[in-house]
Amino acid sequence: MKQKFPTRQLFLLAVIGYFVVAMATFGTSCKHPPLFDDDGLTPVDSMDTTVVIDTFPTGTPCDPDSVYFETDVLPILISSCAKSGCHNAASHEKGVILDSYANVVQTGDVRPFDLNGSDLYEVITETDPDKRMPQPPNAPLTQAQIQLIAKWINQGAQDLHCDPAFGACDTTNISFSQTLKPILNFYCVGCHSGAGASGNVHLDAYAGVKSVAQNGKLLGVISWAPGFQKMPQGGNQLDDCKIAKFKTWIDSGAPEN
Ligand code: HEC
Repeated sequence: MKQKFPTRQLFLLAVIGYFVVAMATFGTSCKHPPLFDDDGLTPVDSMDTTVVIDTFPTGTPCDPDSVYFETDVLPILISSCAKSGCHNAASHEKGVILDSYANVVQTGDVRPFDLNGSDLYEVITETDPDKRMPQPPNAPLTQAQIQLIAKWINQGAQDLHCDPAFGACDTTNISFSQTLKPILNFYCVGCHSGAGASGNVHLDAYAGVKSVAQNGKLLGVISWAPGFQKMPQGGNQLDDCKIAKFKTWIDSGAPEN
């Protein structure tokens, strides 16, 4: 029997409509702090306006016990595997592309909760250097990186999201060795070390980092400033808090601390 007047459907539509309007009205009311004084010309405080650091919490805080694909796993794969000539979209050696969640799971044959059934895990833990990934002369992944990938698979190889810059960003006491080197190791060194370092930029030791810090390229590439290449190449941008830490260190003269 046909319903004459679909009251239920209309009611549902009205409710959905209400939320759409409410989101449009209130969802955008979360404003950034003003960058300029009332005259619209004087930057507030002494804020450098070339790099706008947005430290507003926007997403979910990261739970240290969970592995987040984009935050924890993808940067390792981008830096060590999705390079040109290897497993980026253009090269796709043996059909393996390691540049996004869907591609990693599919072409890396990742099986949730099944470490030994996952090709991706097998090749990074292979002891025979001829079969190991990344292939020599590239360095193998570190134990910490391998453990993170294993933990991700053991947690179901999910695509969880969190905001690594959630909450306050502490830019006091920035040290090259304690604060920045681990970031560079995680995001950049896979492409920027050794004899074939990309762009002949070496980021595995202080001297190389200092030179790109001082010629402005380091901040330019990580903040994706106009006119600069976007680093990490093929990956997501570093979160705002990490960029702020580099900026603070560079502004203080890029010391070897
Ligand atoms: C997947 C590989 C890859 C990763 C990961 C990567 N880079 Fe690069 N980077 C490159 C390549 C390739 C070039 C050279 C591009 C060219 O010369 O055309 C380059 C160039 C650069 C340059 C020189 C830019 C210029 O204008 O001369 C800097 C500085 C740099 N990268 C910094 C970084 C930093 C910092 C990170 C980590 C946050 C990073 N890169 C991560 C591949 C990578």
